[in-house]
Parts: sequence; structure tokens; C-alpha cells
Amino acid sequence: MSKEIVVSGIRSTGFLHIGNYFGAIHNYLKMQNDYNCFFFVADYHALTTHPDPKELKPNVYRVVAEYIASGLDTNKVALYAQSDIPEIPELYLMFNMMAYKGELEKVPTFKDKVRQHPDNVNAGLLTYPVLMAADILIHKAAKVPVGKDQEQHLEMARNFAQRFNNRYGELFPEPQVFRSDARTVKIMSLDGNGKMSKSENANAAIFLSDEDDVIRKKIMKAKTDAGPTEPDSKMPEYIQNIFLLMNLVSSSETINSYQTAYNNCNIRYGDMKKQLAEDMIAFIKPIRERAVELQQDEAQIRKILHEGAQKARISASKTIAEARKKIGINYY
Ligand code: TYM
Repeated sequence: MSKEIVVSGIRSTGFLHIGNYFGAIHNYLKMQNDYNCFFFVADYHALTTHPDPKELKPNVYRVVAEYIASGLDTNKVALYAQSDIPEIPELYLMFNMMAYKGELEKVPTFKDKVRQHPDNVNAGLLTYPVLMAADILIHKAAKVPVGKDQEQHLEMARNFAQRFNNRYGELFPEPQVFRSDARTVKIMSLDGNGKMSKSENANAAIFLSDEDDVIRKKIMKAKTDAGPTEPDSKMPEYIQNIFLLMNLVSSSETINSYQTAYNNCNIRYGDMKKQLAEDMIAFIKPIRERAVELQQDEAQIRKILHEGAQKARISASKTIAEARKKIGINYY
């Protein structure tokens, strides 16, 4: 039986953090052996917020380096830049004919952007989910590993697939979200304010590129409180998040000892954060060092992107030929 197809991507808008790692990359690593995987850098999506042209290439290269340093194996997956696959914007244009202004305006991520950048409400931002649907459906993906914040976009991809199929005949599957661990779909910010994010509060996000001391400082500043006063109390979300991070990078004995201390109301968050910082450093350091090394080898990154684009275009050109035919664009 042929392997199921998987697609996912990360925008090249800044440094990757442990939310991106545990919400997305961690799943890519689990999937790369058993699925036919297409992973990419969403550089067109990054254009919605007008990055400086000088920064685009280093940003894209850094995401590639961080993907590889995290453990993506280009012998197993196609790893490419979105803008290297011209079939994606072609499919995006086709889906745009089936995407309605009203539904696009209601998307929460669009409303957030309008609030953040009222002076830059461009059509690319409005049609962001349409481009994302094209990214996914250009390879007819069955599974898409993403964090919680992308679930609505995925639902829209299913809608566009259905609409195309209803209008022109069966072509696209309805892609489903993939997750191996329900706890990691939303890693909270260390200040307890919503999800960890690339742009919102850099001091409350741990980046894969952070130096050891920076990681220590950020974790020591993470929001905690005076601790529980009743045995077996329910944890506030920001404390749950610290336990979750510990679960992801520390040994089970360590976690169990802090869990017991919490339940017995004698937990010392200062000690817990110190321990978490050291375990987080042990986790991030090899990724950071490998990524720095790779970024210095531009020839290698160029080769990875070139080969990845060639692989991805084989499947993309097949889908776009089928889509054109279904629509009736086959004139000679
Ligand atoms: P982006 O670049 O914002 O985020 C990349 C991935 O990281 C996940 N993520 C998180 N997961 C858990 N906790 C967090 N705090 C956290 N922050 C981010 C995101 O859910 C995502 O999986 N639109 C996408 C990029 C994209 C894409 C696609 C993804 C473009 N086309 C097609 C999948 C398929 C985005 O902005 O991701």
C-alpha cells in the first residue's frame, strides 16, 4: 500500500520557539518514517507582513537549518521553500474563485492581524487560509501536523477541497489534523498570557537559538505563584505549562518528585524552574549548535532546497495538471 501523504509548513517570520518545536516539528519527526512527507518554509505567507528583502533569505535559511538540526532527514522527506513551487500559487488562484469575502473576514487570525496592523490589511492577509489550502492540497495530503492555532485554517482547506470536488468532480481528499500528543497543541507563553508566539513577547518564548544563559533567565522569570495551600489542588494554566515543559524535557523521576511536592503543598517553584532550565538547555543546546553550523554552510542549504523543490514539483505538477483538466483548462 502506498504511504499516506503529509504536508506541513512553518512561516519564515523570525526564530522558531519550543511551541513550534513541540506543536509541529516534534510530529514531523515522528511521521517522517511512516508517511510520504512534504515539509516546507512558508515564505510567501511571511510576505503578508512585508519583511525587509534583506532578511528574507537568512530567515528562510534559518528555518531550514533548524528543521534539519531538529532531526528532519531530507532522504526521507521533501523539504522546500513554498515560493519554489509555482504550482502552489496557481492552485491558490483557482481556490480564490471559491473563497468568499465574508467567510475570510470572519477568520480569527485575520481579525487579530487587522487589530495588530490596521494600516496593512492586504488581500494576501485576507486570503492567507486559501494559500494554506493550496499548500496542503497541491500534494493531496491526508494528514497535516499543526498546533491548535491552525485548526480553523485546516477546516477551511477541507471546505475548499469539497467545493472544488462538488463543482468539478472528485480530485482532493479532505485533510485531517494529525497530533501525537494532545498536550502539545498549545504551548503557553512563559508569562501566562496566551500561546507562546514568535512575535508577541520574546522574553516569554524560548527559541531554539537561545543561548544557555538566556534560557535560564527566561525560565527563572516564568510566571508562578505562592503555591497550593490545599492538597491535590487544581493547577492554574501557567503552572500546568511548567509541568508540561518539564514532562517534555526532564526525566520521569524529576517530574514525579515535583508533582508529589505540588500535591503535598511543599513545592518550591524556584528549584523547579532551576531544574527545568538545566533540562531545557540540555535539550536545546545540540539543536542550536547544529543549526548554527548548518547556517554557515550555505551551499548545503541551497542543495537541500533545490533537491526538495524538485521532489515537491513532481507531485505538485501532477495535481495542477489534473485540476486544470477538471476545470476545463486544456486547450491544446
Ligand atoms: P507558524 O509559522 O505560525 O507556526 C508553525 C507551527 O507551529 C505551531 N505553533 C504552536 N504549537 C503549539 N504551541 C504554540 N505556542 C505554537 N505556536 C505555533 C503552529 O500551529 C504551526 O503548526 N499558517 C502556518 C504555516 C503554514 C502551514 C501551511 C502549516 C502555511 N501553510 C500548510 C500547515 C500546512 C503558520 O503560520 O505557522
